[in-house]
Amino acid sequence: MRRNSLYFAGGIGSTLAIAAVIEITGGLPSQLAHLYYIPVVISALMLPAKLRLTVALLASVAVSPLPDLLHGPLGLNTYYDDPAPWNLSSGGWIVRPVAFFAVSTVASAIIKERAAKAEAEAGAKLLGERLIQERTAKHITMATSKHRGKELNLLSRIDKMILGGATETEALREIARLTAAFTGSPVAGIVVPDEHGKLLQMFYGHSEASERLAEERLPIGEGVSGWAIMHGTVATSPNVFNDARYMKMAEFARRAGYTSAAAAPIVLDDEVLGALFVGRADEHNFTSDELATLQRIADQTAIAVASARQRHSLEELAHETAIALSDAIESRDPYTGDHCSRLAEYATLTATALGLAAKDVQSIRLGAALHDIGKITVPDHVLKKPDKLTPDEYAIIKQHCYSGGQICKRVPFLHVAYPIVYHHHERFDGRGYPDGLKGDRIPLGARIVTVVDAYDAMTSDRPYRKALPLAEAETILRDGTGTQWDPEIVDTFLSAMDTAAKREPTLSRLEHSLL
Ligand SMILES: [Fe+2]
Repeated sequence: MRRNSLYFAGGIGSTLAIAAVIEITGGLPSQLAHLYYIPVVISALMLPAKLRLTVALLASVAVSPLPDLLHGPLGLNTYYDDPAPWNLSSGGWIVRPVAFFAVSTVASAIIKERAAKAEAEAGAKLLGERLIQERTAKHITMATSKHRGKELNLLSRIDKMILGGATETEALREIARLTAAFTGSPVAGIVVPDEHGKLLQMFYGHSEASERLAEERLPIGEGVSGWAIMHGTVATSPNVFNDARYMKMAEFARRAGYTSAAAAPIVLDDEVLGALFVGRADEHNFTSDELATLQRIADQTAIAVASARQRHSLEELAHETAIALSDAIESRDPYTGDHCSRLAEYATLTATALGLAAKDVQSIRLGAALHDIGKITVPDHVLKKPDKLTPDEYAIIKQHCYSGGQICKRVPFLHVAYPIVYHHHERFDGRGYPDGLKGDRIPLGARIVTVVDAYDAMTSDRPYRKALPLAEAETILRDGTGTQWDPEIVDTFLSAMDTAAKREPTLSRLEHSLL
């Protein structure tokens, strides 16, 4: 309202001012009469109908013959007496007022139309922006749900690994690999305190660089991993080279190829076992969603570790029980000594060298320890007979495979040992017992146990002979490949023993003690 009054006063005032200037400069006709369009047009643009028409009316009066009513008495020029053609003396003066009113009416309509169009365009733009915003929100939702789907897939793969009986080492290595693939990070791994609790160790990095650095010890408490382990919370660094926690680790980070890093603690029963770590090549501010995902994977890692440790404890219990049983049986024959324990170690060494899965290695270890458990049913006078056995006595001895198999069948945690215990006297050429199986049809664990059983028997003292030298036992094993034993297993066993003897002095001592 106040705005309209100002524009109206301006319109009236400027019209009167133009009229005064024209009168002072000699009155009409005057080129200055065109100036009346200024207040008329501005009023048409800015004022409501009544006010703008009032301005147009005043301008019309100013250019009309009406001022002549005053001009005569004052002795001034009159419009009608002016002969100039532009004065429109034949009544044409009406054209200008008509133009004023036309501008006041039409200009307003044009402005309204333009305003409506502008408003429509603004509305369309707004709608467009809203559509873009909605589409963006939809894309974000889709991306988030896709991201969440990938995360669930990763967590489910960890679950399957837990149920599949992976060992702690296998689980950690696979989780590090999956995390690196999921986050697209060149470096990822599990960092755990070492046995002295003084250093950190980078385990199972995914990238080539981190694999090279996998065994490198790091100062405890340093970096985001050290922080996560010490404080039990997620830690992140957008640029490790500007981070005080990396003062001692900057060189390591440079060699490992990461600039930004994040770590989540792996907590099991209120104890921080380690940290799940990811490193990116670029500077990066990890979002709260990314950190929450990292923590969820770390939590799942803790479950995997707990499950693997529990299973390992049960397996150890089963193995110790098996060894105790075997020892009880062996005690009837003092010459066999730690035969079953040694067999279990040799079989484990061979199975590992063959690249078998950890749970298969564990089954073979158990089977090797238990292989002669069936001898519990063999009478002493047959088992300990130093002389040649009669056919009937030999038949009784052969029964120990069947008896041992039956024992394994009755005890749930010994089921996995059944094929080994039952078939450990088969021969590679099919001339063994109890079923006369040949070649690859003999269970792998049983083929391994026949080799290591023979090796241990030859390299141990017996009532009727002294132990053979290792070289002689090796020759006998090699001569018997393809007939009594599987050639691949004999090769693998002997080379694994050779490698282990060079690497492990304890095993070497064990071998010497057998001489
Ligand atoms: Fe046997």
